[in-house]
Amino acid sequence: MFENLIEKAKEAQLKSISPYSNFRVGAAIETDEGKIYLGANIENASYSLTICAERTAIFNALLSGERKFKRLALISDSENIISPCGACRQVLAEFCNQDFEIIMTNQKGETKIATLGEILPFSFSKKDL
Ligand code: THU
Repeated sequence: MFENLIEKAKEAQLKSISPYSNFRVGAAIETDEGKIYLGANIENASYSLTICAERTAIFNALLSGERKFKRLALISDSENIISPCGACRQVLAEFCNQDFEIIMTNQKGETKIATLGEILPFSFSKKDL
C-alpha cells in the first residue's frame, strides 16, 4: 500500500544533505489532489539549525501554493521504522488535519501507518489562540 509515495520518499532520501550524521532521511507528502512533493534532511555545521525531511517536504509544498494534505511517507537509513520528531509533528499539525496519515517505513520494507492525531494528541494549535 502507498508504494508510489514510499518510492518518492526513497527518491527524496537520495537528496539528503547529511554530512554530520550520515543519516539520510527522505519524505514525500501528498496533497488532497494527489500531487507529491519531496523533502530530505538538510544539516548545518551549527548542528541545531539542521532541518528534518518532513519539514522540508511540507515547506516545499507550501511554497508551491499547496494547503491541503492527505499523507506523508518517511524513510531513513535505519533498520528501525522512524517516526517524525516532535518539532515536525507540530509543524505538520499547523497545516494538516488529525486524520493526516504518516506512512513510516524502513530499509527492510516494513511499514507502520499512524494518523497525526495518534502521534500528536491533545496538541496546541491555532484553534487555541
Ligand atoms: N531527521 C529527520 O530528517 N527526520 C526525522 O524524523 C528524524 C531525524 C534527521 C535530522 C538529522 O539530520 C538526522 O536525521 C539525525 O537526527
